[in-house]
Amino acid sequence: MRSEQRTVPVPAGRGSGAGTATAVAHPNIALVKYWGKRDERLFLPRTDSLSMTLDIFPTTTRVRLAPGAEHDTLTFNGAPATGEARRRIAAFLDLVRERAALGHRAVVDTVNTVPTGAGLASSASGFAALAVAAAAAYGLALDATALSRLARRGSGSASRSLFGDFAVWHAGVSAGTAEQADLSSYAEPVHAAPLDPALVIAVVDAGPKAVSSREAMRRTVGTSPLYEPWAHSSGADLADMRAALGRGDLEAVGEIAERNALGMHATMLAARPAVRYMSPASLTVLDSVLQLRREGTAAYATMDAGPNVKVLCRRADAQRVAAAVRSAVPGRAVHIAGPGPGARLLSEDGR
Ligand code: DP6
Repeated sequence: MRSEQRTVPVPAGRGSGAGTATAVAHPNIALVKYWGKRDERLFLPRTDSLSMTLDIFPTTTRVRLAPGAEHDTLTFNGAPATGEARRRIAAFLDLVRERAALGHRAVVDTVNTVPTGAGLASSASGFAALAVAAAAAYGLALDATALSRLARRGSGSASRSLFGDFAVWHAGVSAGTAEQADLSSYAEPVHAAPLDPALVIAVVDAGPKAVSSREAMRRTVGTSPLYEPWAHSSGADLADMRAALGRGDLEAVGEIAERNALGMHATMLAARPAVRYMSPASLTVLDSVLQLRREGTAAYATMDAGPNVKVLCRRADAQRVAAAVRSAVPGRAVHIAGPGPGARLLSEDGR
């Protein structure tokens, strides 16, 4: 456990020149999923969720204020950001500008190393890095909790990428004012006994998904008769998951993660019209996970809003699990991730 990476207070000005700041954040994979909002504007979720931050696929984002500019200039892996991505980043910057009472447009350069839009949580690392860099560039001195709340407004799952290792995102209170609800919904680190976990990530299809997670969760909450039962059982999954992490029980962590994820996909299959992210290759990987378990290896699958499959196992078994997955879906990329660090500012020399 890297306890020193569990909080990331951002001292005003660190990592920044005048109005310039660069931050790095890693994706996270939920072991108890976030699926469904109760407030779309504030990104308030229906349920608590819990994730592991990864040590691969970082996103690095530099924000530089551009006084006098009429528009934000946004690049993504060197190319101008367009469409929905551009709209979401600009809307997020508007929120930061409002908080900072500073109207300057910004130049935002993002370098993302994860295949975008493939259910590999690129929006989580993206908005976590943007929240940390933009807050510093606009001179907002926010602690890790406040940064988590801010990142949530870009993409719900980004709230969890502020923290390393395991993090829980609280759904927050429903009664009271919008401000009270907003304040109560943030992520924080979760205690875990030594577990030495790995996630083997099978990139079954790296292309963008047909239905965005945002639209899919909206449709699921609105139309799926299985949604409410899943949301209800997710509360028990979270309590069980916290207990399993607390005693370092990897088998239990995996079982809970797998049932929670498959349940989430069941809610989508029952939506009208159905949302189906699983492809034949995803099912082949799920079969190989079952086979690994039959042979005595602790391996458990989770899937997000895409066809890729992430397999939780012990780090000591990761190469063997990766080999089994590779032979199940030859030619597909397979990555091995461990628990990674929380989001942080980089100093000007990039460290
Ligand atoms: C399936 O955080 O991408 O990965 O809040 O609408 O941006 P928005 O959604 P997003 O949804 C992630 C959903 C998930 C599960 C999870 O990460 O908990």
